[in-house]
Amino acid sequence: MKVHKHFDIRNHNTFRVSSYVRYFLGAEREEEVPSAMEMAENLGYPMMVLGSGSNMLICSDLNRVVINPNLQGIQEHHHGADVIVEAGAGVNWHQLVRYTVERGYGGLENLALIPGTVGAAPVQNIGAYGVELKDVFVDLLGFHRQHGRMVMDAGACRFAYRDSVFKGEFKDAFVICSVRFRLQKQSKLNLSYDALQREIQKRGLKPANPAELADWVAAIRSSKLPDPEVIGNAGSFFKNPMLSTTQYNALKDEFPEIPGYPTASERVKTSAAWLIEQCGWKGARKGDAGVYEKHSLVLVNHGRASGAELWALATEIRQSVFEHFRIMIEPEVNVLSDV
Ligand code: EPU
Repeated sequence: MKVHKHFDIRNHNTFRVSSYVRYFLGAEREEEVPSAMEMAENLGYPMMVLGSGSNMLICSDLNRVVINPNLQGIQEHHHGADVIVEAGAGVNWHQLVRYTVERGYGGLENLALIPGTVGAAPVQNIGAYGVELKDVFVDLLGFHRQHGRMVMDAGACRFAYRDSVFKGEFKDAFVICSVRFRLQKQSKLNLSYDALQREIQKRGLKPANPAELADWVAAIRSSKLPDPEVIGNAGSFFKNPMLSTTQYNALKDEFPEIPGYPTASERVKTSAAWLIEQCGWKGARKGDAGVYEKHSLVLVNHGRASGAELWALATEIRQSVFEHFRIMIEPEVNVLSDV
């Protein structure tokens, strides 16, 4: 296990904000994970799990022991037309997507180019272009601070829109070591999402296989979302709000252009990006904290913004959206502060 004391996690969060933690423990093998958890317990600081920090905003130094589960490896088991693919928590997500589509396995192609690690993917039930992680999830293996080694299926993970038990009851108490997915050798592509339909019309053809669809998705993402290697960001900063039909209809009377997408429940999903853009924030900048000029749902660090400065900008945006539309948008990223 790698142990670092008083460690700056600037290179372990995609917003690239500086934050010193008490200890940083890198676990490379499954058996190192319970040892790291025990060490955190003995050191007397709360533990926190950090993959590549692609969905976090850290607003202060942290009085915590950080566990970085960096388990590698991808394995596959064939069951007729299905393939069960198992990947270590430290595997880069897009690398896993590439591994599967290059072999012709379908299921992960709509989730191409999402930043982050395999271990972080179930935490917020990552989703894009009409597919969510829960659609292909089998189970995961990990360690709970009190209950020890556990295998958890989808029900136990309590997946919801950008949410799971790992953001709630199991927060800071569970370390994911590996995740298993059920993929298909002969899959039907999911082309239902608006942006994919527009792409089909533009190109005059459909993608032929999972690898081609993954390339399309990667191209769409790259055209409007910033690359965290180039400019600090954590993807969508806020969740898309779910409104009651009554609230949505009242807003629609006042703002006829407001987008509305039906959901599995009674509620209507609207676009946080649209609400923010209407309030004039697209491309805005306060010091080095800003709103990306091509997508208003993404906050960016233009250089040396602190986490607190980015959070101050997020707070101003929330207030102005609330004043304008009476909707309080909620962060999608995990916002952390020990002050
Ligand atoms: N829009 C604007 N202004 C903008 C951008 C978008 O008004 O600057 C409106 C447009 O009406 C557009 C609609 O928002 O049609 C939807 O935009 P987009 O397809 O980019 O999707 P999104 O709702 O903004 C969600 C996810 C993304 C995911 C995309 C594609 C959330 C919080 N975000 O964004 O996930 O990639 O759909 O499926 O659900 C992430 O979670 O970090 C993330 C990037």
